Amino acid sequence: VITDMFAPTDDPEIKHIQLAESIDLLLVAPATANALAKFANGIADDFLSTLYISTTSPVLVAPAMNVEMWAHPATRENVRRLRERGVEFVDPEEGYLACRTVGAGRLAEPERIVNRALELVGPSESIDEPRADLTGERVLVTAGPTQEAIDPVRFLSNRSSGKMGYAMAEAALARGATVTLITGPVSIDPPEGARTISVRTAAEMFKAVKDNLEDATMVVMTAAVADYRPASTLQQKIKKNGKLLVLELEQTEDILSAAARERGSRVVIGFAAETENVIENARKKLNEKGAHLIVANDVSASDAGFEVDTNRISLVSSEGVVDLPLMSKKKAAGQILDAAMRIKQSRAS
Ligand code: PMT
Repeated sequence: VITDMFAPTDDPEIKHIQLAESIDLLLVAPATANALAKFANGIADDFLSTLYISTTSPVLVAPAMNVEMWAHPATRENVRRLRERGVEFVDPEEGYLACRTVGAGRLAEPERIVNRALELVGPSESIDEPRADLTGERVLVTAGPTQEAIDPVRFLSNRSSGKMGYAMAEAALARGATVTLITGPVSIDPPEGARTISVRTAAEMFKAVKDNLEDATMVVMTAAVADYRPASTLQQKIKKNGKLLVLELEQTEDILSAAARERGSRVVIGFAAETENVIENARKKLNEKGAHLIVANDVSASDAGFEVDTNRISLVSSEGVVDLPLMSKKKAAGQILDAAMRIKQSRAS
Protein backbone atom coordinates (compact mmCIF):
# COMPACT_ATOMS: atom_id res chain seq x y z
CA VAL A 1 0.00 0.00 0.00
CA ILE A 2 1.47 3.32 -1.06
CA THR A 3 -0.03 6.32 0.68
CA ASP A 4 2.50 9.05 0.25
CA MET A 5 4.56 10.17 -2.71
CA PHE A 6 7.01 12.13 -0.66
CA ALA A 7 7.47 10.07 2.51
CA PRO A 8 11.16 9.78 3.38
CA THR A 9 12.55 6.42 2.35
CA ASP A 10 15.90 4.64 2.15
CA ASP A 11 14.93 3.31 -1.24
CA PRO A 12 17.33 4.80 -3.79
CA GLU A 13 15.01 3.98 -6.71
CA ILE A 14 12.17 6.29 -7.73
CA LYS A 15 9.07 4.38 -6.71
CA HIS A 16 6.50 5.76 -9.14
CA ILE A 17 8.79 5.19 -12.14
CA GLN A 18 9.65 1.69 -10.96
CA LEU A 19 5.96 0.88 -10.53
CA ALA A 20 4.93 2.61 -13.76
CA GLU A 21 7.33 0.38 -15.70
CA SER A 22 6.30 -2.86 -14.03
CA ILE A 23 2.49 -2.78 -14.17
CA ASP A 24 0.26 -4.36 -16.81
CA LEU A 25 -2.69 -2.12 -16.09
CA LEU A 26 -3.42 0.97 -14.03
CA LEU A 27 -6.92 0.56 -12.59
CA VAL A 28 -8.29 3.55 -10.71
CA ALA A 29 -11.40 2.59 -8.78
CA PRO A 30 -13.02 4.69 -7.52
CA ALA A 31 -11.83 7.60 -9.65
CA THR A 32 -12.90 10.96 -8.26
CA ALA A 33 -13.75 14.09 -10.31
CA ASN A 34 -10.48 15.50 -8.98
CA ALA A 35 -8.44 12.51 -10.21
CA LEU A 36 -10.02 12.71 -13.67
CA ALA A 37 -9.27 16.45 -13.82
CA LYS A 38 -5.64 15.87 -12.89
CA PHE A 39 -5.24 13.04 -15.41
CA ALA A 40 -6.85 15.14 -18.17
CA ASN A 41 -4.57 18.08 -17.47
CA GLY A 42 -1.31 16.26 -16.76
CA ILE A 43 -1.13 17.47 -13.17
CA ALA A 44 1.24 15.28 -11.17
CA ASP A 45 1.13 16.43 -7.56
CA ASP A 46 0.54 13.13 -5.75
CA PHE A 47 1.42 9.47 -6.18
CA LEU A 48 -1.59 8.47 -8.26
CA SER A 49 -1.50 11.35 -10.74
CA THR A 50 2.28 10.97 -11.06
CA LEU A 51 1.90 7.24 -11.68
CA TYR A 52 -0.75 7.95 -14.34
CA ILE A 53 1.48 10.36 -16.23
CA SER A 54 4.51 8.08 -16.06
CA THR A 55 3.02 4.75 -17.14
CA THR A 56 2.64 3.40 -20.66
CA SER A 57 0.35 0.56 -19.55
CA PRO A 58 -3.38 0.62 -20.34
CA VAL A 59 -5.41 2.75 -17.93
CA LEU A 60 -8.88 1.84 -16.74
CA VAL A 61 -10.90 4.19 -14.57
CA ALA A 62 -14.15 3.57 -12.75
CA PRO A 63 -15.49 6.98 -11.73
CA ALA A 64 -17.61 7.49 -8.63
CA MET A 65 -18.94 10.88 -7.55
CA ASN A 66 -21.97 13.03 -6.90
CA VAL A 67 -24.50 13.17 -9.76
CA GLU A 68 -23.91 16.88 -10.43
CA MET A 69 -20.15 16.46 -10.39
CA TRP A 70 -20.43 13.66 -12.96
CA ALA A 71 -22.73 15.81 -15.12
CA HIS A 72 -20.65 19.00 -14.80
CA PRO A 73 -19.26 20.27 -18.12
CA ALA A 74 -15.74 20.26 -16.67
CA THR A 75 -15.98 16.55 -15.83
CA ARG A 76 -17.66 15.79 -19.19
CA GLU A 77 -14.79 17.55 -20.96
CA ASN A 78 -12.16 15.72 -18.90
CA VAL A 79 -13.79 12.35 -19.63
CA ARG A 80 -13.93 13.17 -23.35
CA ARG A 81 -10.25 14.10 -23.43
CA LEU A 82 -9.21 11.01 -21.52
CA ARG A 83 -11.26 8.72 -23.79
CA GLU A 84 -9.63 10.36 -26.80
CA ARG A 85 -6.24 9.50 -25.31
CA GLY A 86 -7.21 5.86 -24.99
CA VAL A 87 -8.18 5.77 -21.32
CA GLU A 88 -10.84 3.11 -20.78
CA PHE A 89 -13.88 3.74 -18.60
CA VAL A 90 -16.31 1.61 -16.65
CA ASP A 91 -19.01 4.23 -16.39
CA PRO A 92 -20.74 4.80 -13.09
CA GLU A 93 -24.17 3.33 -12.51
CA GLU A 94 -27.42 5.01 -11.51
CA GLY A 95 -28.69 4.62 -7.99
CA TYR A 96 -28.49 5.97 -4.47
CA LEU A 97 -25.29 7.88 -3.97
CA ALA A 98 -23.27 8.48 -0.81
CA CYS A 99 -24.47 12.10 -0.87
CA ARG A 100 -28.07 10.79 -0.48
CA THR A 101 -29.16 11.80 -3.96
CA VAL A 102 -30.26 9.48 -6.74
CA GLY A 103 -28.70 9.47 -10.19
CA ALA A 104 -25.62 8.56 -12.17
CA GLY A 105 -22.39 8.55 -10.20
CA ARG A 106 -22.37 5.30 -8.26
CA LEU A 107 -19.24 3.17 -8.64
CA ALA A 108 -19.87 0.29 -11.07
CA GLU A 109 -20.29 -3.16 -9.56
CA PRO A 110 -16.86 -4.69 -8.79
CA GLU A 111 -17.59 -7.62 -11.13
CA ARG A 112 -17.99 -5.25 -14.13
CA ILE A 113 -14.74 -3.49 -13.23
CA VAL A 114 -12.79 -6.71 -12.79
CA ASN A 115 -14.13 -8.22 -16.03
CA ARG A 116 -13.12 -5.13 -18.01
CA ALA A 117 -9.70 -5.13 -16.30
CA LEU A 118 -9.16 -8.77 -17.26
CA GLU A 119 -10.19 -8.05 -20.85
CA LEU A 120 -7.62 -5.26 -21.01
CA VAL A 121 -4.84 -7.28 -19.42
CA GLY A 122 -5.52 -10.10 -21.87
CA PRO A 123 -6.00 -13.79 -21.13
CA SER A 124 -2.34 -14.73 -21.50
CA GLU A 125 -1.36 -12.31 -18.75
CA SER A 126 -3.90 -13.58 -16.25
CA ILE A 127 -2.13 -15.60 -13.55
CA ASP A 128 -5.30 -17.53 -12.77
CA GLU A 129 -5.87 -18.43 -16.37
CA PRO A 130 -6.89 -22.07 -16.38
CA ARG A 131 -4.16 -23.62 -18.51
CA ALA A 132 -3.43 -27.28 -18.06
CA ASP A 133 -0.26 -27.56 -20.11
CA LEU A 134 1.64 -29.11 -17.19
CA THR A 135 -0.79 -31.98 -16.72
CA GLY A 136 1.24 -35.15 -16.27
CA GLU A 137 4.32 -33.25 -15.11
CA ARG A 138 5.61 -33.98 -11.62
CA VAL A 139 7.38 -30.88 -10.39
CA LEU A 140 9.76 -30.97 -7.43
CA VAL A 141 10.29 -27.52 -5.88
CA THR A 142 12.66 -26.59 -3.06
CA ALA A 143 11.88 -23.40 -1.14
CA GLY A 144 12.86 -21.28 1.82
CA PRO A 145 16.05 -21.15 3.87
CA THR A 146 17.85 -23.86 5.77
CA GLN A 147 18.89 -23.52 9.40
CA GLU A 148 22.22 -24.91 10.55
CA ALA A 149 22.48 -25.29 14.31
CA ILE A 150 25.40 -23.75 16.21
CA ASP A 151 24.13 -24.78 19.63
CA PRO A 152 20.66 -25.66 21.02
CA VAL A 153 19.41 -22.05 20.65
CA ARG A 154 21.31 -20.55 17.72
CA PHE A 155 21.59 -21.30 14.05
CA LEU A 156 23.02 -19.96 10.77
CA SER A 157 20.39 -19.09 8.22
CA ASN A 158 19.40 -16.46 5.63
CA ARG A 159 16.59 -14.10 4.66
CA SER A 160 14.61 -16.43 2.37
CA SER A 161 10.87 -16.19 3.08
CA GLY A 162 9.86 -19.06 0.81
CA LYS A 163 7.74 -16.74 -1.35
CA MET A 164 9.54 -17.46 -4.63
CA GLY A 165 9.46 -21.23 -4.12
CA TYR A 166 5.84 -21.24 -2.96
CA ALA A 167 4.90 -19.14 -6.01
CA MET A 168 6.62 -21.76 -8.19
CA ALA A 169 4.63 -24.53 -6.55
CA GLU A 170 1.39 -22.57 -6.87
CA ALA A 171 1.97 -21.75 -10.55
CA ALA A 172 2.80 -25.38 -11.38
CA LEU A 173 -0.31 -26.62 -9.55
CA ALA A 174 -2.50 -24.06 -11.37
CA ARG A 175 -1.25 -25.45 -14.68
CA GLY A 176 -2.13 -29.04 -13.81
CA ALA A 177 1.18 -30.41 -12.47
CA THR A 178 1.59 -32.65 -9.46
CA VAL A 179 3.84 -30.79 -7.04
CA THR A 180 6.16 -31.91 -4.27
CA LEU A 181 7.35 -28.94 -2.25
CA ILE A 182 10.40 -29.44 -0.05
CA THR A 183 10.57 -26.46 2.23
CA GLY A 184 12.83 -25.02 4.86
CA PRO A 185 11.31 -23.21 7.86
CA VAL A 186 9.08 -20.33 6.67
CA SER A 187 6.04 -18.56 8.06
CA ILE A 188 3.80 -18.68 4.99
CA ASP A 189 1.23 -21.38 4.23
CA PRO A 190 2.03 -23.92 1.52
CA PRO A 191 -0.26 -23.85 -1.51
CA GLU A 192 -3.21 -26.21 -1.28
CA GLY A 193 -2.68 -29.34 -3.32
CA ALA A 194 1.10 -29.55 -2.99
CA ARG A 195 2.67 -32.52 -1.20
CA THR A 196 4.74 -30.59 1.29
CA ILE A 197 7.81 -31.96 3.06
CA SER A 198 9.25 -29.76 5.81
CA VAL A 199 12.96 -29.85 6.53
CA ARG A 200 15.30 -27.73 8.60
CA THR A 201 18.90 -28.30 7.51
CA ALA A 202 20.72 -28.58 4.18
CA ALA A 203 21.39 -32.25 4.98
CA GLU A 204 17.66 -32.88 5.52
CA MET A 205 16.81 -31.05 2.30
CA PHE A 206 19.43 -33.09 0.45
CA LYS A 207 17.91 -36.34 1.70
CA ALA A 208 14.34 -35.24 0.90
CA VAL A 209 15.36 -34.26 -2.65
CA LYS A 210 17.21 -37.57 -3.13
CA ASP A 211 14.18 -39.54 -1.91
CA ASN A 212 11.80 -37.72 -4.28
CA LEU A 213 13.97 -37.13 -7.34
CA GLU A 214 13.20 -40.39 -9.11
CA ASP A 215 9.54 -39.51 -9.51
CA ALA A 216 10.05 -35.92 -10.73
CA THR A 217 9.93 -34.77 -14.36
CA MET A 218 10.98 -31.22 -13.49
CA VAL A 219 13.07 -29.88 -10.61
CA VAL A 220 13.16 -26.21 -9.62
CA MET A 221 15.56 -25.37 -6.80
CA THR A 222 14.48 -22.08 -5.37
CA ALA A 223 15.68 -22.78 -1.83
CA ALA A 224 18.42 -20.67 -0.29
CA VAL A 225 20.46 -23.59 1.01
CA ALA A 226 23.29 -22.89 3.41
CA ASP A 227 26.64 -23.38 1.72
CA TYR A 228 28.30 -23.87 5.11
CA ARG A 229 27.26 -25.34 8.45
CA PRO A 230 29.05 -25.47 11.80
CA ALA A 231 31.50 -28.37 11.69
CA SER A 232 30.05 -29.51 15.02
CA THR A 233 26.93 -28.54 16.94
CA LEU A 234 27.49 -27.80 20.60
CA GLN A 235 25.20 -29.67 22.98
CA GLN A 236 24.98 -26.75 25.41
CA LYS A 237 24.38 -23.05 24.81
CA ILE A 238 27.63 -21.17 24.18
CA LYS A 239 28.47 -18.82 27.06
CA LYS A 240 30.19 -15.54 26.40
CA ASN A 241 33.65 -15.17 27.95
CA GLY A 242 34.96 -11.88 26.57
CA LYS A 243 37.20 -13.65 24.04
CA LEU A 244 37.01 -13.91 20.27
CA LEU A 245 34.73 -16.77 19.28
CA VAL A 246 35.72 -18.70 16.17
CA LEU A 247 33.16 -20.91 14.46
CA GLU A 248 34.51 -23.70 12.31
CA LEU A 249 32.35 -24.28 9.25
CA GLU A 250 32.22 -27.13 6.77
CA GLN A 251 30.65 -27.14 3.35
CA THR A 252 27.17 -28.62 2.90
CA GLU A 253 26.11 -30.99 0.13
CA ASP A 254 25.38 -29.24 -3.16
CA ILE A 255 21.84 -30.47 -3.78
CA LEU A 256 21.42 -28.88 -7.21
CA SER A 257 24.65 -30.38 -8.54
CA ALA A 258 23.66 -33.80 -7.24
CA ALA A 259 20.21 -33.55 -8.86
CA ALA A 260 21.72 -32.33 -12.14
CA ARG A 261 24.20 -35.23 -12.18
CA GLU A 262 21.29 -37.66 -12.13
CA ARG A 263 18.97 -35.60 -14.27
CA GLY A 264 18.21 -38.29 -16.87
CA SER A 265 15.30 -36.95 -18.93
CA ARG A 266 14.09 -34.47 -16.29
CA VAL A 267 14.50 -30.72 -16.58
CA VAL A 268 16.65 -29.29 -13.79
CA ILE A 269 16.48 -25.60 -12.95
CA GLY A 270 18.46 -23.76 -10.29
CA PHE A 271 18.56 -20.22 -9.02
CA ALA A 272 21.47 -17.86 -8.48
CA ALA A 273 21.14 -15.32 -5.69
CA GLU A 274 23.77 -12.73 -6.49
CA THR A 275 24.79 -9.30 -5.23
CA GLU A 276 27.30 -8.46 -7.99
CA ASN A 277 28.20 -9.61 -11.52
CA VAL A 278 24.81 -11.30 -11.60
CA ILE A 279 24.89 -12.76 -15.11
CA GLU A 280 28.56 -13.71 -15.05
CA ASN A 281 28.11 -15.58 -11.76
CA ALA A 282 24.90 -17.22 -12.98
CA ARG A 283 26.71 -18.46 -16.11
CA LYS A 284 29.41 -19.94 -13.88
CA LYS A 285 26.74 -21.73 -11.82
CA LEU A 286 25.09 -23.03 -14.99
CA ASN A 287 28.33 -24.70 -16.03
CA GLU A 288 29.51 -25.81 -12.60
CA LYS A 289 26.21 -27.23 -11.42
CA GLY A 290 25.08 -28.75 -14.72
CA ALA A 291 21.52 -27.40 -14.64
CA HIS A 292 19.53 -26.72 -17.84
CA LEU A 293 18.69 -23.23 -16.68
CA ILE A 294 19.77 -20.85 -13.95
CA VAL A 295 17.34 -18.18 -12.81
CA ALA A 296 19.49 -15.25 -11.73
CA ASN A 297 18.23 -12.60 -9.33
CA ASP A 298 19.96 -9.63 -7.75
CA VAL A 299 19.25 -10.05 -4.05
CA SER A 300 20.72 -6.67 -3.17
CA ALA A 301 17.76 -4.90 -4.87
CA SER A 302 14.98 -3.70 -2.60
CA ASP A 303 12.17 -4.90 -4.90
CA ALA A 304 13.63 -8.27 -5.89
CA GLY A 305 15.08 -11.42 -4.35
CA PHE A 306 14.48 -12.07 -0.66
CA GLU A 307 11.18 -11.45 1.18
CA VAL A 308 9.39 -9.14 -1.27
CA ASP A 309 6.48 -10.20 -3.53
CA THR A 310 8.23 -9.13 -6.74
CA ASN A 311 11.33 -10.30 -8.55
CA ARG A 312 13.46 -9.25 -11.49
CA ILE A 313 14.91 -12.40 -13.00
CA SER A 314 17.22 -13.33 -15.85
CA LEU A 315 16.94 -16.74 -17.45
CA VAL A 316 20.47 -17.96 -18.11
CA SER A 317 20.96 -21.06 -20.28
CA SER A 318 23.25 -22.35 -23.00
CA GLU A 319 20.93 -20.56 -25.45
CA GLY A 320 21.75 -17.17 -23.96
CA VAL A 321 20.31 -14.75 -21.43
CA VAL A 322 16.72 -13.48 -21.25
CA ASP A 323 16.30 -10.47 -18.94
CA LEU A 324 12.77 -10.07 -17.64
CA PRO A 325 11.36 -6.87 -16.09
CA LEU A 326 10.15 -6.52 -12.52
CA MET A 327 7.06 -8.64 -11.97
CA SER A 328 5.23 -10.51 -9.24
CA LYS A 329 6.88 -13.73 -8.06
CA LYS A 330 3.81 -15.58 -9.33
CA LYS A 331 4.30 -14.20 -12.80
CA ALA A 332 8.03 -14.88 -12.66
CA ALA A 333 7.19 -18.47 -11.71
CA GLY A 334 4.97 -18.70 -14.80
CA GLN A 335 7.85 -17.50 -16.98
CA ILE A 336 10.19 -20.09 -15.45
CA LEU A 337 7.66 -22.85 -16.13
CA ASP A 338 7.30 -21.63 -19.74
CA ALA A 339 11.08 -21.86 -20.07
CA ALA A 340 11.04 -25.37 -18.53
CA MET A 341 8.45 -26.46 -21.11
CA ARG A 342 10.54 -25.01 -23.94
CA ILE A 343 13.60 -26.92 -22.70
CA LYS A 344 11.56 -30.09 -22.51
CA GLN A 345 10.19 -29.64 -26.01
CA SER A 346 13.55 -28.80 -27.54
CA ARG A 347 15.11 -31.88 -25.94
CA ALA A 348 12.26 -34.05 -27.20
CA SER A 349 12.70 -32.80 -30.74
O1 PMT B 1 12.35 -17.06 -0.50
P1 PMT B 1 12.24 -15.63 -0.97
O2 PMT B 1 12.26 -14.65 0.17
O3 PMT B 1 11.08 -15.45 -1.91
O4 PMT B 1 13.56 -15.30 -1.81
C1 PMT B 1 13.78 -15.89 -3.04
C2 PMT B 1 15.27 -16.27 -3.23
C3 PMT B 1 16.13 -15.03 -3.24
C4 PMT B 1 15.73 -17.21 -2.11
C5 PMT B 1 15.35 -17.03 -4.61
O5 PMT B 1 14.89 -16.18 -5.62
C6 PMT B 1 16.77 -17.49 -4.90
O6 PMT B 1 17.58 -16.78 -5.43
N1 PMT B 1 17.06 -18.76 -4.52
C7 PMT B 1 18.42 -19.34 -4.57
C8 PMT B 1 19.17 -18.94 -3.35
C9 PMT B 1 20.56 -19.53 -3.30
O7 PMT B 1 20.89 -20.24 -2.43
O8 PMT B 1 21.30 -19.22 -4.34
P2 PMT B 1 22.84 -19.71 -4.55
O9 PMT B 1 23.34 -18.86 -5.65
O10 PMT B 1 23.58 -19.69 -3.27
O11 PMT B 1 22.68 -21.20 -5.01
C10 PMT B 1 22.58 -21.60 -6.37
C11 PMT B 1 21.65 -22.78 -6.52
O12 PMT B 1 22.20 -23.92 -5.87
C12 PMT B 1 20.27 -22.58 -5.96
O13 PMT B 1 19.31 -23.17 -6.84
C13 PMT B 1 20.31 -23.33 -4.63
O14 PMT B 1 19.02 -23.87 -4.30
C14 PMT B 1 21.30 -24.43 -4.93
N2 PMT B 1 22.11 -24.89 -3.78
C15 PMT B 1 22.88 -24.02 -3.09
C16 PMT B 1 23.67 -24.49 -2.04
C17 PMT B 1 23.62 -25.86 -1.74
N3 PMT B 1 24.33 -26.34 -0.74
N4 PMT B 1 22.86 -26.69 -2.43
C18 PMT B 1 22.10 -26.23 -3.47
O15 PMT B 1 21.40 -27.01 -4.12
